Amino acid sequence: MPNLLSFASNSLIPLLAIPFLHWAYTFKWRKAKQTNLVFYVHDNLTGHDTSAITVAGKNGPTASILEFGTILAVDDPVTEGPDSASKNIGRAQGMYMNSQLDGKALYLMFSVIFTDGEYKGSSLEIQGPDPFSMKEREFSIVSGTGYFRFVKGYGIMTTEFLDIPNLRAILKLNVTVKHY
Ligand SMILES: *[C@@H]1O[C@H](CO)[C@@H](O)[C@H](O)[C@H]1NC(C)=O
Ligand SMILES: *[C@@H]1O[C@H](CO)[C@@H](O)[C@H](O)[C@H]1NC(C)=O
Repeated sequence: MPNLLSFASNSLIPLLAIPFLHWAYTFKWRKAKQTNLVFYVHDNLTGHDTSAITVAGKNGPTASILEFGTILAVDDPVTEGPDSASKNIGRAQGMYMNSQLDGKALYLMFSVIFTDGEYKGSSLEIQGPDPFSMKEREFSIVSGTGYFRFVKGYGIMTTEFLDIPNLRAILKLNVTVKHY
């Protein structure tokens, strides 16, 4: 079978290499980029600038966000710096649910929709736990749109300012993502 063997080594093996070469060539172009961004979310449940409201809970919409089972709808301003007067770059829209029996952790589900700045027109999808009494909480970035298509990553949330009696908070989100 010398003919078949030489056919295999001369023709078949180079043929098999074509998909590999194609993958190796395209892989270079699909290499993931890493982006780090820091922004601030202003979460005020009271006052003239209220941007988060309780919609359901153990005692209906009068339930406290510090109580297990309470659900908030949020449309919080997102700024470049910790000061609420700093450049407004988007909105954090979605919901928080108190999901720990002792009331000490929230479950976050929201989109950060960039309306200005470098990522204008793009969005990030945030999902995960927020044990808010901890100094640093890690959360996940599960997807995104625009500049952030195919995104995956994580973020670290810290509370920059907290006024418990009036339920007003400024959160720092430091996000690291990989995307194409
Ligand atoms: C939220 O409340 C804080 C503290 O009272 C205030 O400084 C800030 O301006 C408010 N946020 C917004 C977006 O208005
Ligand atoms: C953001 O988090 C990264 C680690 O993921 C850290 O190296 C970096 O210093 C942080 N940046 C800010 C401004 O907090």
